[in-house]
Amino acid sequence: MRYLTVDPERPDAEIVRRAGDVLRRGGLVAFPTETVYGLGANALDANAVSRIFAAKGRPTYDPLIVHVLNASAARAVAREWPEAADRLAEAFWPGPLTLVLPKRALVPDIATAGLDTVAVRVPSHPVARAILEAANVPIAAPSANRFTELSPTKAEHVARALGDRVDLIVDGGPTTVGIESTVVDLSGDGAVVLRPGTIPAPALAAAIGALDIAVADARGGGTMPRRAPGMLDRHYAPRARIELFDDASRREAARSAATYTARGETVGALLLAPLGEAVTHPMHMPNDPAAYARALYDALHTLDASGCQVVLVEAPPETAAWAGVRDRLTRAAQPVTPNDTR
Ligand code: TXA
Ligand code: MG
Repeated sequence: MRYLTVDPERPDAEIVRRAGDVLRRGGLVAFPTETVYGLGANALDANAVSRIFAAKGRPTYDPLIVHVLNASAARAVAREWPEAADRLAEAFWPGPLTLVLPKRALVPDIATAGLDTVAVRVPSHPVARAILEAANVPIAAPSANRFTELSPTKAEHVARALGDRVDLIVDGGPTTVGIESTVVDLSGDGAVVLRPGTIPAPALAAAIGALDIAVADARGGGTMPRRAPGMLDRHYAPRARIELFDDASRREAARSAATYTARGETVGALLLAPLGEAVTHPMHMPNDPAAYARALYDALHTLDASGCQVVLVEAPPETAAWAGVRDRLTRAAQPVTPNDTR
């Protein structure tokens, strides 16, 4: 594995060219996007794409996001392009939005897990864009972590998780959005948010010119028939167990911290307000959804590295602006199930 550092705003042309070469030859390159680091391969090369699944230990039923430079390149991989795609692309691309659309045959089945749809995104990060330009092919890139583990927001997270499984890691500093893109399915009737991110549902609805937008229940319950494949409950999870608390259970959480510390556990916490003396590693999180999202994964990586067995997490408000952060916290707090493949 090679590890090369670039200026996030003005990446070195020679390093970018090298990344493009590796991708065109069927190799794997980890690179920063504005959301999280991606593990990229040529999306049109089935062999290269299969190496992503192998490196991550990811099951092949979990489809990948195809990254392109602009909306016209997105139309080259999507078979249909509804009015809503135009409006959302206009409002949020380049940026942390992924659209699911009917796919064209040139996208290999392995990239979309055999689905008739493709997820496509136009990233805004200058390093991601420079690499896309140099590679001159669409790049399939999931988050550059091992399957079900924490997503990387720094190149060192990628190096720790994937190391020699990648041909090249391009370090462009910490990512700025911090959680994965908002995924909106436009392949059926209407628009459905499959994965909340930092773009709130009301902003998506406003761009489409609708009053409201449907939000899928990733757990498969509720009234939403569609769900995002590969959206396992326990995703984005640190090694430590996560316990969520809110205002009503705050005292109980403080008591838990004392109990865990007394039995010798290292106790971390992600807090909006202090929880008391018993927390070994308190992390004070920003009371703003965008700033919280930016800090979230790095905070969890840090608490894991400090050897915390448990992390007490203060649940943020149940508003649309916090939906992406709440989704990641709720998933991280799911207990490991017997058929969890980690
Ligand atoms: O911010 C991001 O989206 C990052 C960066 C690297 O771009 N990528 C990312 O990829 O989060 P990944 O593979 O970790 O998550 C992709 C998710 C899949 O698990 C699935 O839930 C959804 O996107 N997805 C992909 N293709 C889909 C499809 N055809 N239909 C429905 N959902 C799809
Ligand atoms: Mg992921």
